[in-house]
Amino acid sequence: MKILAIETSCDETSVAIVEVSGSRRQPTFHVYEHVVASQVQMHAKFGGVVPNLAKREHQRLLVPLTLRALKKAGMYERLKLKTQNAKVQLKTQNLLQTIFEREPELLSEFKKKIFPLDILDIDAIAVTNGPGLAPALWVGVNFARALALVWNKPVIPMNHMKGHLYAAFIPEAVHNLASFQFPRIQFPVIALLVSGGHTELVLMKKFGSYAIIGETLDDAAGEAFDKVARMMKLGYPGGPAIAAEARKFQDLKIKSLNIKLPRPMINSKDYNFSFSGLKTAVLYALRDMPKRTRMTSIVPAMAKEFQDAVVDVLVSKTMRAAKEYGAKTIAVGGGVSANHLLRERLSQEVKKQLPNSKLFLPHVSLAGDNALMIAIAAVLDGKKKAPNTIGAEANLRLDN
Ligand code: KG4
Ligand code: ZN
Repeated sequence: MKILAIETSCDETSVAIVEVSGSRRQPTFHVYEHVVASQVQMHAKFGGVVPNLAKREHQRLLVPLTLRALKKAGMYERLKLKTQNAKVQLKTQNLLQTIFEREPELLSEFKKKIFPLDILDIDAIAVTNGPGLAPALWVGVNFARALALVWNKPVIPMNHMKGHLYAAFIPEAVHNLASFQFPRIQFPVIALLVSGGHTELVLMKKFGSYAIIGETLDDAAGEAFDKVARMMKLGYPGGPAIAAEARKFQDLKIKSLNIKLPRPMINSKDYNFSFSGLKTAVLYALRDMPKRTRMTSIVPAMAKEFQDAVVDVLVSKTMRAAKEYGAKTIAVGGGVSANHLLRERLSQEVKKQLPNSKLFLPHVSLAGDNALMIAIAAVLDGKKKAPNTIGAEANLRLDN
């Protein structure tokens, strides 16, 4: 089975083409092509993601990225020109017009470059249908529906957070676009999903079963990184910027400024999180710094303490959940899972406290948003749907 996967939930436009073979639970994937076009630099000027700009960029990029992927996969040469009669063609064109009612730029490119082609090699179109930014999600969803319509294929809608979860299991070596076998997952799994919009601890007792045992009550971990970075004028996205400042603190051996931030809810009995108070604590700590303290040492010191605080809470709750639920597997996913301190600390703690459990971390290049994770999640836990039955769901939850 060959799958074309599309991800447009936020500020990355990504397309993947994979071939799947072997057993259902440990399939072998061959990655023909995987491309992630990041809009980060464009949004950085505005200090965060601007939904309408993201929508415009997704519209501009989807057709060329898909054609490029088909070419790289050697499928473009095997495309045929459509041989439908004029009446059917007209009907399809009208349906396309309805699908792309709100994406006129994409409609015109699609009609010109994709509509005339028939495809032999793709069996299903997987697409992120939520959660995410509604205008951004709709571009991908409508593109998938249109492809499915003109090529007469099913669509597999996929939850973005499931994608992040399954990305943890993609072995390191895949970024050279080779083949890999999906590992055997030992249940139960405790997954820590930490992105710009979500922070949740998920219990998976088997494939297809996801229980959110804890989540943030206010800001997501990534959002806290972004907001604190903005306070310190470090730009967007904040996660990598804060991590770099924290590293500076260590590398330059800046003397500690005795900044102490809270570890919100670290001792609460539940598995929920809260990061908005931490952000406010940073604001007050910055305000209360003695005037003579130089900004060049405040920023790295604050970044380090903030990163320590977030990581302390994430690691502590994940370990406690893993122990309580007897997790044989601990998986981490989402943009924040690229954070080196988080990866290092979790590796140490799992080794120390749960030596018989296995920790899966995504390759850093697959921690952020990408279509490969959507393709893989679609294979392991997707359902084929008729294209007219799906839509974007900005608040889609993992557990429904
Ligand atoms: O999963 P993702 O790429 O997009 C969403 O689904 O939201 O996550 C993006 C988030 C941003 O908030 C970004 O600041 C954060 O991940 N992030 C990091 C790091 N790299 C990205 N946070 C901490 N440390 C990092 N190295
Ligand atoms: Zn994401």
